[in-house]
Amino acid sequence: MEVRLDGKVAVVTGGSRGIGQATAALMLASGAEGVVITSRKPDNLEQARKELVETGAEPDRLEAMAARADDPEDARRTIGATIDRFGSCDILVNNAGTNPAPGPLVTVDLGALDKTWAVNQRGPLLWCQQAVTQWMADHGGAIVNVSSVGGLRPAPILGAYNISKAALAHFTHQLAMELAPVVRVNAVAPGVVKTRLAGSLWEGREEEASKGHPLGRLGEPDDIARAIVFLASDAASWITGVVLPVDGGVLGASGSAIS
Ligand SMILES: NC(=O)c1ccc[n+]([C@@H]2O[C@H](COP(=O)([O-])OP(=O)(O)OC[C@H]3O[C@@H](n4cnc5c(N)ncnc54)[C@H](OP(=O)(O)O)[C@@H]3O)[C@@H](O)[C@H]2O)c1
Repeated sequence: MEVRLDGKVAVVTGGSRGIGQATAALMLASGAEGVVITSRKPDNLEQARKELVETGAEPDRLEAMAARADDPEDARRTIGATIDRFGSCDILVNNAGTNPAPGPLVTVDLGALDKTWAVNQRGPLLWCQQAVTQWMADHGGAIVNVSSVGGLRPAPILGAYNISKAALAHFTHQLAMELAPVVRVNAVAPGVVKTRLAGSLWEGREEEASKGHPLGRLGEPDDIARAIVFLASDAASWITGVVLPVDGGVLGASGSAIS
């Protein structure tokens, strides 16, 4: 079976590096008609755009749009601009995420906690509202949220972040119920993936960090991108409301901690 996205137009938030950039690359390689990557910083987006084109993306099928994940007006404008540019918005990947509030919950900085929940938990709702009302309610579509194994069971230090990812997992179930059968809503729950966001969990200690993983290594952005593209594609047309761990076996095969 080949997973294809021919004719589909996708928005990938947090597409300027890591899992989002890998997802955009794979979507384009899988035939997507258009892919819009978003993030806060135009320089990051330009760099990602350059790298995607250098590695084979057709420039005409790729747009980069600066947009904050936690801003309703940015979401409205970006989804509208996507439809203007490519004619539809069939796929939304809520991938942008942040973790500025590590440490124990009882002493967590409340400003950092608010930011974490605004981006990771409230943000995906804002983007779903726009994608659904501007396009998917009338034409169908697929939404993939990027949760975390940390949203499926607790882990030290990551409490504020993990709560936001648990909320995103439940949001996925709730929205899947509300939008069926017109729009499918699923999520992936990555384990530790070698990106900037997770740097403190693995940089300088990759061998040790890999030990809790039955499959013997940490994740690469492409490991997650493949699951996202599958869930976004018609190959997953009878799947909705699922939160799929993509974690080297941490949850399913061992139940051990990720770090
Ligand atoms: N890496 C892991 O181990 C892991 C595990 C589980 C889940 N995840 C989740 O995977 C997703 C992608 O993370 P990653 O690991 O690929 O991290 P990353 O490489 O650091 O990428 C994060 C992306 O999000 C963007 N971003 C951050 N804050 C934003 C905001 N407020 N508004 C818009 N864009 C924002 C960043 O671009 P700008 O800086 O330009 O805004 C960047 O494009 C996140 O939701 C993360 O929680 C990651």
